[in-house]
Amino acid sequence: MNAQWKSTRRQLLTLASLGALTAACTEDRRLRPLVTSSPVRTPTPSTASQRVALPADLLLGLATSAYQIEGSVHADGRGPSIWDTFCARSGTIKDGSSGAISCDHYRRWSSDLDLMALFGLKSYRFSVAWPRVLPDGRGAVNQRGLDFYKRLVDGLLTRGISPMATLYHWDLPQALQDLGGWAERDGASWFADYARLVFDRLEGVERWLTINEPRIIVQYGHQRGQHAPGIADDRVAGRTLHHLGLAHGLAVQAFRSSKAKGSIGPCHVVTPCYPADDSSAAKRATAVADARLNTLYLDPMLTGQYPPSLAKLEDGLQQGIESAEKGNDLNVISETVDFVGVNYYTPAVIDAKGNRRDNFPVTPINWPIYPNGLTDVLNRLHREYNVRIAVTENGIAGLANETLSDSHRTAFLRDHLLALQRATDAGARVESFHAWSFLDNFEWAQGYTQRWGLFHVDFATQQRTPKHSGRWFADVIARHSVPVA
Ligand code: FCB
Repeated sequence: MNAQWKSTRRQLLTLASLGALTAACTEDRRLRPLVTSSPVRTPTPSTASQRVALPADLLLGLATSAYQIEGSVHADGRGPSIWDTFCARSGTIKDGSSGAISCDHYRRWSSDLDLMALFGLKSYRFSVAWPRVLPDGRGAVNQRGLDFYKRLVDGLLTRGISPMATLYHWDLPQALQDLGGWAERDGASWFADYARLVFDRLEGVERWLTINEPRIIVQYGHQRGQHAPGIADDRVAGRTLHHLGLAHGLAVQAFRSSKAKGSIGPCHVVTPCYPADDSSAAKRATAVADARLNTLYLDPMLTGQYPPSLAKLEDGLQQGIESAEKGNDLNVISETVDFVGVNYYTPAVIDAKGNRRDNFPVTPINWPIYPNGLTDVLNRLHREYNVRIAVTENGIAGLANETLSDSHRTAFLRDHLLALQRATDAGARVESFHAWSFLDNFEWAQGYTQRWGLFHVDFATQQRTPKHSGRWFADVIARHSVPVA
């Protein structure tokens, strides 16, 4: 931490303790506290006497992705991405919105980092937008795009926050989609070339994630057409699935042969599946669901094989995978990784017919809540794959009218942190936990109808205000423990 920042942070903390600090942001990139009339309190120390200590080396942080927060989609030479195109098509986004402005983080990054530092973050997971760095997806490098991420990474390191960068969080350059996108085998080498460039030119990243949630890219983007690029074709989805794996493996190889420091891993959403009853039919259906949701993505990368129940997949998906697979692809896909990033939100309970029978309390957007599912996921990854783990996303949405009193989020995060702690007690090696998300933001096809942030964003003024959960999380970080009473 440099001296200037140390002294600014001291000033911020002093102001915070006087209750005068606000979490507002301006376009000003200088480090300075901003004062408004709203009496926002910063990290409130818990009065609770009972606390559960978190694993000593666990890094606590927040996560975002480029298209969801940056805005400035035409700035500094950025090329269009498939999400710009998808949002422009009518009927694709629930409220007709897009990420064109969103949280304006591209211009407000510096005050956003101040806010993170003020709340004591130890780690920040963000993504690099491929179309900022390579506007056409390949070929000419856009130095101004790279410079943005250089400033961001330097700004994090200066503030004592460990940078974790995702290389691909769904914003494929449109020019590459025009050539067939991930359905083409070339997609894997386009990605590897982009990854190599970023490894060579972006110093200071401590942990790298290759591709965020291949399953969602396959299912939502290529099977159901609900996400960009809006394709609904099982065969194309199968080819995409295989090429995403190959892209990941080639990027890991590129990392190993680069001078980049740090560690690298994939990032998967994992949904633990439970049978609705004791019948063998329910158990069989649960195994199929588990293959479709989880092992189809985890196994090739971590064991070098597609799961044996591949035959139970939709015909087209299977054909797509088989038509894409060549020679020693699986050796590349299973290139050794340093850790696995896990996004955990919900469990799935499956009945004998393969239907969902979730019977849990639900979030405001009706997602089932089951904190113990996180314990199960972490234990399973440890037991079956013997990998180090980073929890790269975990969180809960409120609706657009959610207030700052987001007790549902505080309770959710508390219960999931405790669930993580139980898994590490049982032996799982978990290096970090990132709550989704730093700010309310553009939630893909749901637009701005959901709020996921620990910090509220007023999209009209761009003011950031910590929610109750944000202050609570700062206290958890500061004391490295979770209040339980
Ligand atoms: C995950 C995505 C992330 C965000 C959360 C709510 O699937 O990785 O970008 O949309 O869900």
